Amino acid sequence: MANGLDDVVAADTVLSDVDGAGGHLTIRGHSLTDLAGRWRYGQVVHLLFDGFFTDLPGDAELEKAIGDARVEVFDRLQPMLAELAPLDIYSSMRAGIALLPDGDALADALRLIAAPAVLTPALLRLGRGEKPLPPDGRADHAGDMLRMLGGTASPALGKALDTYLVTVCDHGLNASTFATRVVASTQAGLTSAILAGLGALKGPLHGGAPGPVIEMLDAIEASGDAAGWLRDEIARGQRIMGFGHRIYRVRDPRADVLKAVVRQLGARSATGSRLAFAETVEQAALEVLRVEKPQRSIQTNVEFYTALLLEAAGFPKEAFSNVFAAGRVAGWIAHAREQQATGRLIRPQSRYVGPVPDLVA
Ligand code: ACO
Repeated sequence: MANGLDDVVAADTVLSDVDGAGGHLTIRGHSLTDLAGRWRYGQVVHLLFDGFFTDLPGDAELEKAIGDARVEVFDRLQPMLAELAPLDIYSSMRAGIALLPDGDALADALRLIAAPAVLTPALLRLGRGEKPLPPDGRADHAGDMLRMLGGTASPALGKALDTYLVTVCDHGLNASTFATRVVASTQAGLTSAILAGLGALKGPLHGGAPGPVIEMLDAIEASGDAAGWLRDEIARGQRIMGFGHRIYRVRDPRADVLKAVVRQLGARSATGSRLAFAETVEQAALEVLRVEKPQRSIQTNVEFYTALLLEAAGFPKEAFSNVFAAGRVAGWIAHAREQQATGRLIRPQSRYVGPVPDLVA
């Protein structure tokens, strides 16, 4: 038995497929590369939710309903934000989401889609001593998230963030999706299930990696010696953030999608020189990992270029995992509904390896 459940198939799903050998991601019959940059996040939410809610409207109506949900979540949670804000930005977002109703209806799902997008900019603004900006229910989801953060949002950045949300919307039975399905299998409500996903996503081996990617880039820039810095990290038993994956043995296809978005944003701007530096670090890391960890094919994962994209979009590194959650929540909800529909409780066994009781009378 593998401690990490490697190679164990724990669910049938129609939602997404991760081809780790070929480096392909399929989301409900569509290749990621066909969706990213072409479909809006709201349309992908519709794609994932289809068949899991009896009252699902068409995709245009659903996007409007997500806008209405942003307004509702802001109105509902705004009075509590000041109390939540002293926690770290991820924990305060999670605490805000815990205050939402815990049902299984489409309205519950839409509040959960809206919540990370509304809470993250509001909490960031409070943290900087600024008043939170209310959502515009008629605006595009990603563009509105940026506008709530900075007051304005360029169409290019809105499109970049939208592509990011689509890119991370679902990804097989990753740790947070599995955690979500375990809770959903008890027939608890969607908020309970999503809170489990949020807990799992926070860790640096999963969705907590992109913030540390920025710290790594800054430290390498200061050291002036990428390969030496990376070798020292590995010698100290540290992992290189943004590299390696349980399933992919080749490059994570999401890394290429996000890199292309950063490249588009970066032409003639500071993002361009940051990207050029990050590319040299990436090459150095791949070479160091090839030499130091020859037993394993360790390639660039989604988090490396996530860090650059979200930095360019204006999010501080502390909030990167929040933005990841804003995208992944759609997949979590669909998986929770898919699991609930099976009616089957997830309840594996453990093997007892502790001391045996003294049975002598
Ligand atoms: N840096 C250095 N060494 C690594 C890395 C890395 N990024 N990734 C794996 N390894 C090494 C391990 O130390 C181990 O070496 P050892 O055999 O000498 O002890 C070997 O490769 C195998 O490691 P495992 O832990 O078995 O690999 P696993 O499949 O569990 O790793 C994981 C996947 C957890 C993502 C890992 O690659 C990692 O920690 N990466 C860094 C954190 C990161 O980028 N996380 C985001 C992942 S993407 C996502 O979740 C959205």
